[in-house]
Amino acid sequence: MRTDTGQVFRLEDYRPSDYLIPETKLTFRLSPDQTVVIAELTIERRAGVDRGAALVLDGDGLMLRGIAIDGRQLAASDYGATPDRLIISNPPSEPRFKLTLETEIAPSKNQALMGLYRSNRVYCTQCEAEGFRRITYFLDRPDILSVYTVRIEADREEAPLLLSNGNLAESGDLGDGRHYAIWHDPFPKPSYLFALVAGNLGVIRDSFVTASGRDVELGIYVEHGKERLAAYAMDALKRSMRWDEEVFGLEYDLDVFNIVAVSDFNMGAMENKGLNVFNDKYVLADEETATDADFANIEAIIAHEYFHNWTGNRITCRDWFQLCLKEGLTVYRDHEFSADQRSRAVKRISEVRTLRAHQFPEDQGPLAHPVRPRRYREINNFYTATVYEKGSEVVRMIRTILGPKLFRKGMDLYFERHDGEAATIEDFLKVFEDVSDRDLSQFALWYHQAGTPNLTVTTSHNPATAEFTLEIEQSVPPTPSESRKRLMHIPLAFGLVGPDGKDLAYGGAEGASVENGVIHIRKRRHVVRFSGVSERPAVSLNRGFSAPITLSVEQRPEDQFFLARHDSDAFSRWQAFNTLLSEALIAAFRNKLGGKEPEFSEGLAELAGTIAGDEALEHAFRALALTLPGEADIAREISANIDPDAVFAGREALTATIAKANRDQFSALYRQLDGKGPFSPDAASAGRRALRNVLLDYLSALDGSAALAAAHFTGATNMTDRAAALTALAHRHPGSAEAREALAAFERKYRADPLVMDKWFQIQAATPGHGTVDAVRALMKHPGFSMTNPNRVRSLVGTFVSANQTGFHRPDGAGYQLFVETVLAVEKRNPQVAARLATALRSWRSLEPGRQAKAREALLSISSTPNLSADLRDIVERTLA
Ligand code: PHE
Ligand code: ZN
Repeated sequence: MRTDTGQVFRLEDYRPSDYLIPETKLTFRLSPDQTVVIAELTIERRAGVDRGAALVLDGDGLMLRGIAIDGRQLAASDYGATPDRLIISNPPSEPRFKLTLETEIAPSKNQALMGLYRSNRVYCTQCEAEGFRRITYFLDRPDILSVYTVRIEADREEAPLLLSNGNLAESGDLGDGRHYAIWHDPFPKPSYLFALVAGNLGVIRDSFVTASGRDVELGIYVEHGKERLAAYAMDALKRSMRWDEEVFGLEYDLDVFNIVAVSDFNMGAMENKGLNVFNDKYVLADEETATDADFANIEAIIAHEYFHNWTGNRITCRDWFQLCLKEGLTVYRDHEFSADQRSRAVKRISEVRTLRAHQFPEDQGPLAHPVRPRRYREINNFYTATVYEKGSEVVRMIRTILGPKLFRKGMDLYFERHDGEAATIEDFLKVFEDVSDRDLSQFALWYHQAGTPNLTVTTSHNPATAEFTLEIEQSVPPTPSESRKRLMHIPLAFGLVGPDGKDLAYGGAEGASVENGVIHIRKRRHVVRFSGVSERPAVSLNRGFSAPITLSVEQRPEDQFFLARHDSDAFSRWQAFNTLLSEALIAAFRNKLGGKEPEFSEGLAELAGTIAGDEALEHAFRALALTLPGEADIAREISANIDPDAVFAGREALTATIAKANRDQFSALYRQLDGKGPFSPDAASAGRRALRNVLLDYLSALDGSAALAAAHFTGATNMTDRAAALTALAHRHPGSAEAREALAAFERKYRADPLVMDKWFQIQAATPGHGTVDAVRALMKHPGFSMTNPNRVRSLVGTFVSANQTGFHRPDGAGYQLFVETVLAVEKRNPQVAARLATALRSWRSLEPGRQAKAREALLSISSTPNLSADLRDIVERTLA
């Protein structure tokens, strides 16, 4: 574990390295406790650098066994080696030389899951961001592009399969039960994209012919016996490959594309060149074991990693400050892919819900940072919703501003201009300026400035002059170390909705530039006047969520109701209803705090009924509309002095009100949606299940409904329905005989399947109420739980701390106590996973004073622990600052 040195890395300190490594030859002699790595590095002095400039390579916990330059062993006085650094102070004066290094590592002891480690007896690597330096000394930075040739030697029985990046060049026997394979990747790449996998795995194979006729062999490697479960992932891969050709004109560039699923993985998946490594959770699926959400995630993540081949691999990042260059852009691409494969409107609504649930609280709390950060202590902590999700929104806004044609032209220019390079955000923006002749310097603030901008809007209509006016004011709240903000360029898509639900045509607009249904906000205040508007419209703002902002619109409730029924933009329709729900929930919270029972307008429950039964709407859309804002969403809107118990009680009251008012209709619809026939994971079938399961959740809020959920559970023919029923039982009828029986039945059936048991842990960890902390403690002793496997830790403890508001924020601090203990225990093995877990308290300052004090104590007790990892210290100190 790297303990914190307090070192801060700054964007402005970037400078190119003195040396380059055009070629890298690696030999691995694999063995669990003593793997030997021989690296033969071709080192080249960069033009203009002084002869004899010291060569300094990065390491992390390494043991050097041998070192030679151009075949000559170095004397001890010629170099200095520590576990973390190798310095050769007087390298040869020739412009090019060969440095040979021998290091020894112990994959079986690697529990941080960075570098070379073992997962279920399979050797695998994870090098992003700085894991390669745990394998050999190197210039471990993304602007060092090298051509890799990798020789792997291993025991044939233990590891019949030997994989690395690129194409297989040679393989053979070594005698003594050992064998070897040599892989060559012709594309220069940064060290973070290096990968090796060796072990005994099953495979499914397929092939793909690219648009220009190149044959690509596809392989997905999984645990023996699970091959069948990789079929959906393979299908998603082929669809991704075709889509990237059709939509971006991008083809795959090697003869082989392999994916390996491993069960111990810190993140979702990794885009190593030609050899993606996946958390098995995002590969393995069938209807028995995976929910519709799992299928959608697999499709999206398979696409995401595949799309990185161009956005990330062929064009990589100059330094880690540019992380969003590959991540934001690739998320944008995977979002577009899913939108094309499924329902665009439904996909957009889910994206926005995710952004609000994960990125908004980050942007509005102590961990806020710009999409392109300027400083970091630990780069692992910047794989955030801001870099990924907001980064994607920024790319989407570029497309909104330029229009689809110029956006594509800019992307083409990006690939043409920067292929084979390590680029920056400035390079990316420049291509769009060049193809459009627009000045994007104000827009660029989206990359440089943290915080969620807010627009305050008031409207007025003058029938006499047929003028409709929008007064729009922007503000960007202060964020850590950025107290003064500059004004942003916000593309605000809008519509003026007339009484018939159709968008009104208007004569002209002045006060801001208005093009193609988008108002370009650039100043603090705009008064936008639309002429030729004789009837007062309902104004639909931020259509399609054209900008990642918050809106405060002074709007009559009847306009909001009207938009929820009639807006032609499906996203805005959803938004209008969601805003009504959210306002009702905030009012309910205030009532609960004041000791009063919440009251809801009749119109709200009635509208919920109308939406549920509206045959013109997709099932999935109806399901999303009927899903109430979550407790965390409500808390975020309230923003201060949160009592999670009052939030919960208010939400329960609205659920019950809607359920009671629509009891008969919901029951009838629920029965009608009971799908017979064979299972299909497609979007339409998933949408039908989603609506039925949302109805189940409402019906489960009614008295005497445990039997309904129990029947849903026993009658389920797929995991989506089974998990929904188990959730309804465990959350709405906790402790009931029905709930206990279903939990036990589920456990009996899936005991041997860790990924399914994760759902069992999750559902229990998310059960609302003060008793759950004890249940979670007990489950940590369950034989299926493990503190070393990231998926287990996230399912049980991660769910509890991030998705259980009433349980985690128990007023006596018992939830925080469990949090502290677990974070510190996980940190000993895996600092990265611990640091992520620790972000669960990032919004602690929004809590009411009692909980706030307890949360602060918990954070302080972590920060006062000696020898914290850089990962955890960084998160905890920023959270407390
Ligand atoms: N680069 C990976 C992805 O998004 C994420 C990742 C980061 C995985 C760091 C492992 C380690 O697609
Ligand atoms: Zn990515």
